[in-house]
Amino acid sequence: MIKPKTEKEIEIIRQACRITKDTLDEIEKHIKVGVSTKELDKIAHDYIISRGARPSCLGYCGFPASICASINDEIVHGIPKANRRLKDGDIISVDLVVEYHGYNGDAARTFLVGNVSAEVRQLVEVTKQSFFEGIKNIKGGSFVGDISHQVQTYVEKHGYSIVRELVGHGIGREMHEDPEVPNFGAMGAGPKLKSGMTICVEPMVNMGDKHVKFMADGWTCCTRDGLPAAHYENTILIKDDGVEILTM
Ligand code: MF3
Ligand code: CO
Repeated sequence: MIKPKTEKEIEIIRQACRITKDTLDEIEKHIKVGVSTKELDKIAHDYIISRGARPSCLGYCGFPASICASINDEIVHGIPKANRRLKDGDIISVDLVVEYHGYNGDAARTFLVGNVSAEVRQLVEVTKQSFFEGIKNIKGGSFVGDISHQVQTYVEKHGYSIVRELVGHGIGREMHEDPEVPNFGAMGAGPKLKSGMTICVEPMVNMGDKHVKFMADGWTCCTRDGLPAAHYENTILIKDDGVEILTM
């Protein structure tokens, strides 16, 4: 049983999501050749604190940082490091969750570093667009599978593949709540969405095949074939007549 949020809860989640978006904008200003992922983490951490909020990732199941920073073949959950510096032509996915007055906002972007090849730029663009295809025509009464199917169809039409091991999720007091929101599936499948639900839609798209491997650090998820992957995520609110994107 998935309980829609009250108007009061939605207003707090809106604020958490606003801070999440502003933090991503702050990080984007510092995306340059030579910056380390640890420096980006500190910028995000200090910014979130300055807004009176808390970085939810820090300490979550032992995660040691405020952001996930995943470069090139790293799909998600990369750990920021002082010796990992951005290079010309890299792509970096930054994923972060902000808690404000007990409620969470969650979003991710894949940024380009310097001169990125046209091929990789297209991967990043299709991944972003697959989010918008996913939420097309979604409203109270739609099914989670409708989102899944629309994302998958768009991504596969472009010859890329969808990661299966990790999925989107509901969000609220907890970073991860029901329902799971896979980026693959059938129209009409899964739970029915109701007005007032808040969920995270987050396509993780591989340029090559769908297979992943998990690194020895216990967190970083990479493509098995070593080809790049991209990630794009927003927290959205389901309404009677559509959706509201809260982290944009
Ligand atoms: N934002 C991620 C998600 O969408 C969670 C990051 S994992 C953490 O599920 F451990 F770093 F928090
Ligand atoms: Co998420």
